[in-house]
Amino acid sequence: MGGLDRFYFGTNTKMYKTIAETASFLAELAELTRKIDREKAALFVIPSFTALQTAGPIAREGEILLGAQNMGWEAEGPFTGEISPRMLREVGVEIVEIGHSERRHVLGETDEMENKKVLCALENGFRPLLCIGETAEQKRDGIADEILRIQLKRGLRGVSAAQAAERLLIAYEPVWAIGAGGTPATREYAGEKHGVIHAALCELFGAECGGQIPVLYGGSVNAENAVGLAKTPGIDGLFIGRSAWVAKSFYGIITAVLNTL
Ligand code: PGA
Repeated sequence: MGGLDRFYFGTNTKMYKTIAETASFLAELAELTRKIDREKAALFVIPSFTALQTAGPIAREGEILLGAQNMGWEAEGPFTGEISPRMLREVGVEIVEIGHSERRHVLGETDEMENKKVLCALENGFRPLLCIGETAEQKRDGIADEILRIQLKRGLRGVSAAQAAERLLIAYEPVWAIGAGGTPATREYAGEKHGVIHAALCELFGAECGGQIPVLYGGSVNAENAVGLAKTPGIDGLFIGRSAWVAKSFYGIITAVLNTL
């Protein structure tokens, strides 16, 4: 738990759910979480592009923030295969996920590309969710802190303190912790890295603005480790993959965490 009033719970469904599957997942999640005070818990779901239009009204009705998994950095142009901010706004997107480890390490995105997307997301009124994290090799070589600081400084170049305080979200997702082959970070390790990230954000934006930026932890969060991670100082939310893709399981994690915070 960080120093903020609201705790964040989010999931990115990656390339797993169809339109119909997304719609029923969201509808069930909205129903299950109806009584949860959104001043205390912010919920968000990031489905596939094709599901966004159908998901929009269900998410809005259920007070679940809707996100996109990626975004091109121009309003329009010859960018085959990209989706522009105008298109995402049209379908009610509020959060744009930028630089997930799969985009960086499988699809070759760089900090410079993430930076263009962050600036474009801010210009267009979205909340950018910038994902950062070190690989297993970088961790082994003892340069995790340096990598996190580089990803923040490069990824956030040109962002103002006011924009950061108002709209920026960060997810710390160590690459070695993500997905079926991943090992979740221990509370101690995650807490230490969240400390490094919060310090870098204060350095970039000043203590007052930097201190208002939520930093979420992601990477093999599950029903067993969620409460421990959520109680760790510096962790302002949980960004969950596999363990959140069944609405009841996601709800189970949300209530377990809220009951202990
Ligand atoms: P995971 O995914 O929870 O399935 O490890 C996390 C993520 O990729 O954001």
